[in-house]
Amino acid sequence: MSAQITEGTLAEMRELIARYPEPQSALLPMLHLLQSVEGYVTAEGIETCAAVLGLTAAEVSAVATFYTMYKRRPVGTYYVGVCTNTLCAVMGGDVIFDRLKDHLGVGNDETTDDGVITLEHVECNAACDYAPVVMVNWEFFDNQTPESAVQLVDDLRAGQTVQATRGARVCTWREAERVLAGFPDDRADEGPAAGPATLAGLKLARERGWKAPAPDAGRATGDGGAATKVGAAEQADTTRAESESKLDESPADVVGGKTDEPIDVDKHSGEGSS
Ligand code: FES
Repeated sequence: MSAQITEGTLAEMRELIARYPEPQSALLPMLHLLQSVEGYVTAEGIETCAAVLGLTAAEVSAVATFYTMYKRRPVGTYYVGVCTNTLCAVMGGDVIFDRLKDHLGVGNDETTDDGVITLEHVECNAACDYAPVVMVNWEFFDNQTPESAVQLVDDLRAGQTVQATRGARVCTWREAERVLAGFPDDRADEGPAAGPATLAGLKLARERGWKAPAPDAGRATGDGGAATKVGAAEQADTTRAESESKLDESPADVVGGKTDEPIDVDKHSGEGSS
């Protein structure tokens, strides 16, 4: 056992395993836990997971090398991921990534000499509505520019407290990995969550009274879902016609005339589940 993988780590691995019907289901959080204690997934960490779960090292390694959130080399205090996927790229993601490489003196998947920043270009962060997006330890920094991204990494290297655009204060890579492993800290409700651009579709659906069909609606009538399918088709025709009639309107008209109007997230999330 390494100095970092302690009896306490093994106890937490067993705690994770106990949360699932099948022990192997705990592998993903276990790998995050390893990253929180070792900074990345080491060969010894893979052997440990394999031994605890009754798998081969090759099986664990196959998982650890498949998902890009698992790192096989040491990560700095802050992992900075610049989205260079299509939308972010055309909105400036490529320029941001190149500027940060020059500014930090590192290439892709490399760490600064002081061990503070690991830079990597990443694929879509599912935050395209705020492109170009940069992530620090998986927290969102929206609508970035080369200048704001440089300021961001400078603040991190200076040890300043940095607040995500939508989310919590940025913690260290290892602290973030512990949360992903399933051991939450006190920051889950910090900062703003979804913003107006993300909720525009929900707002539109609510204004039009659009709802997803109940999953068991057809079963209740005993018609094998035929009535539901007919109803859904009619609804689709209606909504399609309404949408097409809106094509001549501006995006601002479609979402209610005020694209940057604050949206009551609590109200929407509560009503949307009904
Ligand atoms: S393309 Fe960058 S978040 Fe989707």
